[in-house]
Amino acid sequence: MSHRLPRRRTEFYSIELEVTPDCLIPRPETELLVQRSIEFLRQRPSPRQVCDLCTGCGVIAVAIAKNVPDAKVIATDISAPALAVAARNIEKHKLQDRVELRQGDLFDPLIAQLDQFDLIVCNPPYVSAAEYEELRRT
Ligand SMILES: C[S@@+](CC[C@H](N)C(=O)[O-])C[C@H]1O[C@@H](n2cnc3c(N)ncnc32)[C@H](O)[C@@H]1O
Repeated sequence: MSHRLPRRRTEFYSIELEVTPDCLIPRPETELLVQRSIEFLRQRPSPRQVCDLCTGCGVIAVAIAKNVPDAKVIATDISAPALAVAARNIEKHKLQDRVELRQGDLFDPLIAQLDQFDLIVCNPPYVSAAEYEELRRT
């Protein structure tokens, strides 16, 4: 039996994206992170190399690539299902030549390239206050 997750559309930074339960719905406050990233990158010489860690549905990578036309982005996530959603968003916005996806734990898929990036951006998993208290005890 096939278990197809419900796909829905959301808008982020005036960009339409697909999300599913495999990835979090982008939060409005993440737009500030994207805005600051774009401002920073526009001041850097070309070619601009960006890493987006924990990309989820690819929201940050797609928004940066659409707004900084010569930026090249490598986006990573540990979750293969989340990366499948990101791949569809990258394809939808025709960014396959500038946004590359890699699966792995944090910097593992990039370890040989860490000195090449102009910007490393990350919106990591959220930890609630209750979860944080639990982490401190273990
Ligand atoms: C808060 S979501 C951020 C998604 C997206 N970047 C955004 O801003 O909406 C965190 C993402 O981190 C990924 N993640 C969790 N642990 C990870 C790890 N150790 N290495 C890489 N990605 C991880 C999850 O699969 C999830 O997609």
